[in-house]
Amino acid sequence: MKIVFARDYQDMSRKAANIVSAQVLLKNDCVLGLATGGTPVGLYRQLIEWQKKDDISFRDVRSVNLDEYVGLPPEHAQSYRYYMNRTFFDHIDIDKANTFVPSGLFQDAAAECAAYDRRIEAFGGIDLQLLGIGNNGHIGFNEPAEDFQMNTHVVDLMESTRRANARFFGGDLEAVPRQAITMGLLHIMQAKRVLLVADGDQKREVLLRALRGPVTPKLPASILQLHRELTVVCSCTPF
Ligand code: F6R
Repeated sequence: MKIVFARDYQDMSRKAANIVSAQVLLKNDCVLGLATGGTPVGLYRQLIEWQKKDDISFRDVRSVNLDEYVGLPPEHAQSYRYYMNRTFFDHIDIDKANTFVPSGLFQDAAAECAAYDRRIEAFGGIDLQLLGIGNNGHIGFNEPAEDFQMNTHVVDLMESTRRANARFFGGDLEAVPRQAITMGLLHIMQAKRVLLVADGDQKREVLLRALRGPVTPKLPASILQLHRELTVVCSCTPF
């Protein structure tokens, strides 16, 4: 595990973008596992800037996102498909047909989840998986549980997660969906490389517990201690 302490959000974003950029330069048709949320916005902005300067190209990249809210259509402003388009894909030269976000509008949850896992397997797995971390230690929407949830699955979001994300829904907790579909821990752990980004001291305690505490499904991010190629880029006070 490599932990990089950045000075501030901008420094964290740039350092993390350098890692994603290196991956794409080394393997132009790589598979990127992507995350949403507030933390990676600056990283995506930096990658867009480099792409606009022609320093990097996403033409042959394929991407799989971690998660999506159940019930939100792709054109909903808070859906993760919308986020990815608006925050990243609309501004780079990626072929959107090669970008995948789980659908929150499935008829058959088990079939949708299995199809998402099969897609990742058909790609030969993920080369670089980008992650944020929730205050409760979730990665993707793998919430604290009795067991590690390995496969893509539908999850009931914890109240604390819905509260944390209410800021994206104009502060309206009731508007935050109660369920999400999320990649499980298997494909995250099978990714050749994992890049976890965390911003500020508000994430310091959960990061410490995840990286230095016991490995437990009650803190899903703790499983990352077992990954061979984990890089953490964080802008909290060093520990
Ligand atoms: C997003 C995701 C979540 C977030 C986490 C942190 O696709 O899977 O695990 O990474 O909730 O969110 P922020 O960055 O908003 O603090």
